[in-house]
Amino acid sequence: MTGENRPPPEGSPLPPHPPLTEYYPGSADRLRFVRQLFDSTAGEYDRLTQIFSLGTGRAWRADSLRRAGLAAGEAVLDVATGTGMLAAAAREQGGRVVALDLSAGMLAVARTQPGIAFVQGTADALPFADARFDLVTMGYALRHAADLTATFREFARVLRPGGRVLLLEIRRPEGRLPRLLARAYLGAAVPALSRLARGGQAGLLMRYYADTIEHCVPPAAILAALGAAGLAEARCDTEWGVFAAYSARRP
Ligand SMILES: C[S@@+](CC[C@H](N)C(=O)[O-])C[C@H]1O[C@@H](n2cnc3c(N)ncnc32)[C@H](O)[C@@H]1O
Repeated sequence: MTGENRPPPEGSPLPPHPPLTEYYPGSADRLRFVRQLFDSTAGEYDRLTQIFSLGTGRAWRADSLRRAGLAAGEAVLDVATGTGMLAAAAREQGGRVVALDLSAGMLAVARTQPGIAFVQGTADALPFADARFDLVTMGYALRHAADLTATFREFARVLRPGGRVLLLEIRRPEGRLPRLLARAYLGAAVPALSRLARGGQAGLLMRYYADTIEHCVPPAAILAALGAAGLAEARCDTEWGVFAAYSARRP
């Protein structure tokens, strides 16, 4: 194994992808870029998600929570909640939901959802006491965290013993043809559709989406980072080759 492809030592920082310098100069500028991107696209996010997921976005989130065994009355933390789609689905299934996001723009849209407590913050420094939640969820934001090792440690810390993690993500399809098709769809068709529908930064958001999926660390590295954070039974269930649901449990 060369130094380049050797896995990092367990517990060391794990950025989900290398710096994408087409969008920002270096790692130090990444958080600001991500915040600005989501602030400026917050008003369009739900519409884009419906186009991007071919209309399945809300149902997929609700089904994933059911499969994760969410029970009425459980305390749920939805990290990187965006406009609150996953948080709202958890509340509809009886969860007592707290939702956190980096972007004030996203939170301003999310706050129209009733019955959820919203907090501004980052995934790798959660402003919550230890062992407070039964379920920590994060939808389509793993690629935007600065460091998966620190983020998953925080998830383990705020979970009570026996509590679960559910991470929804898009994974890079295996095989050359599926990858080319996904790349064409995400990188070209969706931005073009979005621009036709309305102007704004939708095209930039979708191109960035496609690039972060393309460059994201593989599922095996994500599972290893969950394990290194002290979470057990880590697994990844994939549907249609791209829709991934990672789950794990605090022992
Ligand atoms: C693609 S949206 C996903 C929103 C929502 N979870 C969903 O299922 O639709 C990604 C969200 O992650 C947030 N985000 C990005 N990096 C973050 C971080 N380090 N900590 C907290 N939130 C972050 C963004 O502000 C954005 O709202």
